[in-house]
Amino acid sequence: MYLTKEEERIYDGELGWAYQVSMKILVKLGDLYGAKRLIPIDSAHISGVAYKTVGDAPIEFLRALADSGGKAAVQATTNPSSISFGNPPFNALSRELIEKQAEIIGLYERMGLELTLTCTPYYIRRPRSGSNLSWAESSAVIYANSLLNAWTNREGGPSALASALIGKTPDHGLHRPENRQASILVRVEADLESELDYGVLGICLGEILGDKIPVIYGLPRCEELSLKQLGAAMATSGMTPMFYLSEKGGNGSSIEEKISIGERDLRASYERLTSAYEKPDLIFIGCPHCSLEELKTIARYLEGKRVRPGIKLWVCTSNHVRRDAKEYVEIIEASGGQVICDTCAVVTWLRDLGIEILMTNSVKTAHYTPSMSGVKVILSPLEDCLREACQK
Ligand code: F3S
Repeated sequence: MYLTKEEERIYDGELGWAYQVSMKILVKLGDLYGAKRLIPIDSAHISGVAYKTVGDAPIEFLRALADSGGKAAVQATTNPSSISFGNPPFNALSRELIEKQAEIIGLYERMGLELTLTCTPYYIRRPRSGSNLSWAESSAVIYANSLLNAWTNREGGPSALASALIGKTPDHGLHRPENRQASILVRVEADLESELDYGVLGICLGEILGDKIPVIYGLPRCEELSLKQLGAAMATSGMTPMFYLSEKGGNGSSIEEKISIGERDLRASYERLTSAYEKPDLIFIGCPHCSLEELKTIARYLEGKRVRPGIKLWVCTSNHVRRDAKEYVEIIEASGGQVICDTCAVVTWLRDLGIEILMTNSVKTAHYTPSMSGVKVILSPLEDCLREACQK
C-alpha cells in the first residue's frame, strides 16, 4: 500500500507508539484487502465499550494507547456501555463490574473519544452524503450506507479506533463505488404490517445473503423505524453491510441472482426467535437506540396511563436524544417507564438485575439475549409491547 511521507513517519514511530500501532493496524488491513492507499474519514464510531461483551481483554491495550498519548484525530463516538451510571437499577450490579466499566470508558475519554455511548451516532450528527467513515457497530454501518449514503466498511472495534487516531481508513470494500453494487434482487411476497415484521424479514434475509448487497422490492412502506429494524436485523444474522430499496423491482446490470421471501419464511424466523409465552418482567424498547420520533410515539401512547406494578419498561436512547426529548421523557417517566441512556438490555447483565423474561419489538435483541443473558424473549410490535406494559 502506498503511504505518504507523513504516513511513513507515523508508521516508523516518530509520533509515538499509539499512532505507530494504529497505522500498522490500518496498513495490515489495507494489504489484506488490496487497498492502494489510505483515505481521510469524517468520523469514527467505536464498538468494544461494553464490559459485558469485551471483558478484560482490551483494557491493557487501551491503557497503553492512552498512556502513550493517543488522541482521536477526527470526531469519534462510542457504542453503549454495560451500565447506565447513576441510574438506580444499575446500582444493584457488583462494585467490580461498575469499576471495570468505568475504567474502559475513562480510557476512551482520555483518548479524546466522545462518550456518546450510543449505537445510533447518526442521530447526534448525520454524516454527509458521500462521506467516508470508519464505523463499527453493524446496525449503524448498514444504516449509514443504506439510508444516509455515507460510506463505511463494517469495522471492528480495534480498526475503528485505529482510524479514529489516524483520521484515515484503507481505501477498500465499501469505500470503492464498484463494491457498492447490489448483486441480488429480493422480492418480498408477504404482508409486512409493523416494524417487527421488518425486523423478522431482516433476520431471514441476513441468513440467506451472507455479505451480498440486495435490492429489496415489494416493501409496503419505508418508515425510518421499520428500515432501521430491517437493517439492524439483517446485519445481526449476516454480514450484509448495505441494502437498496426499489419500488419497481427493476434489475440493475449487476444483479446476478433473484430470490423471493414469503409469509412462511417470516413465520419460521419469528417462531424461532420467540422463546417465552409467559408474562414478561421487562419490556425493552430501543434496540437500536430510540430516535426523537420513537420517543414521541411512545410518550403519546403512555400519556395518562400507568405502567403496571411488577413490570419494568425500559426505553433506551442516547443522552443527546434524551436532552432533545424533554417533554416526551417526562411523560414516559410519569407513567412509570424509564428512559435509559448509555446502555441497552443486550449489553448489560439482565439476570443480575432480576430479569428473566423480556418482551421487545427488536429482533436483534431477541436474537442475542437468550444466549448472552439466559433470558427468554417475547417478540411483539411496539404498540403491543406498550399495551402489555400498561395492562392490568
Ligand atoms: Fe444498540 Fe444494544 Fe441493540 S448496542 S443495536 S441497543 S444491542
